[in-house]
Amino acid sequence: MTSYETITVEKRGRVAVLTINRPDKLNALNSKVHSEGVAALDELKRDDEVRVVVITGAGEKSFIAGADISEFQDKTPVTQRNTFTERSLFNSIDNFPKPVIAMVNGFCLGGGNELAMACDIRIASENARFSQPEINLGIMCGGGGTQRLPKLVGEGRAMEMVLTGDMLDAATAERYGLVNHVYPSADLEAETMSLAEKIAEKAPIALQLSKEAVKFASRSNLDEGLRREVDLFAICFSTEDKKEGVAAFLEKRKPEFKGR
Ligand code: COA
Repeated sequence: MTSYETITVEKRGRVAVLTINRPDKLNALNSKVHSEGVAALDELKRDDEVRVVVITGAGEKSFIAGADISEFQDKTPVTQRNTFTERSLFNSIDNFPKPVIAMVNGFCLGGGNELAMACDIRIASENARFSQPEINLGIMCGGGGTQRLPKLVGEGRAMEMVLTGDMLDAATAERYGLVNHVYPSADLEAETMSLAEKIAEKAPIALQLSKEAVKFASRSNLDEGLRREVDLFAICFSTEDKKEGVAAFLEKRKPEFKGR
């Protein structure tokens, strides 16, 4: 793997851990984090050894405290708009072909919450705090907050979050469905890695197609979604992993999936 300035990437078997590494700035997302994050995901996408990616923030206080506000002073509407293209960090995570888990270890604010929502699963520590505070800066969400948040928590709760900028504690975020699980800080990493490793053992092509199908559900109507699911399901029947999964069940052994 390439080494980066603002992020680190560590491969732990089949799981890659991508850490935003600006703890003195609470891992705020500056333009370097955006470009390096996109480049690292491009590498991880092509790496067949990697089956699941975990994204987290360095240090014990913050996952990501939002966009780097110091960069806002010099940004023009055009440069700001260019940050959020199809090739944005948020969309690169959303479109990433393998499962991505956000390991939320503290402040998860603004662009941090938007990044977590672009991931497939969110696991949080008890000290995690969630908000879309852009309104307090006289601006609004620009990294998917107004679109992904209502899908996860419902329109009323999303509206209250983006209109007040108030912070939710981890228990409330779990009750809202914004995060899947909350663990004591000391257990967060072990619990997240255990989930990541469990997913990493599954058949890679079936994982990718399952992710695509679930994502399609919120972008289509039921008939289109059901048709897409049948097509993707049929593709699974062309894989070696399907033969292996079925054979292993019938032979009462653990399958060994190869991603073929
Ligand atoms: N952009 C740039 N720098 C940030 C940042 C951000 N989003 N969030 C935190 N930082 C920096 C602080 O400026 C400070 O830097 P300094 O030591 O050079 O002064 C450092 O990170 C530590 O933050 P600090 O504010 O001292 O910590 P705190 O515990 O008192 O407060 C927060 C924590 C998260 C409540 C507070 O930092 C905050 O409100 N951050 C901004 C959150 C936000 O509005 N994000 C959305 C942006 S659209």
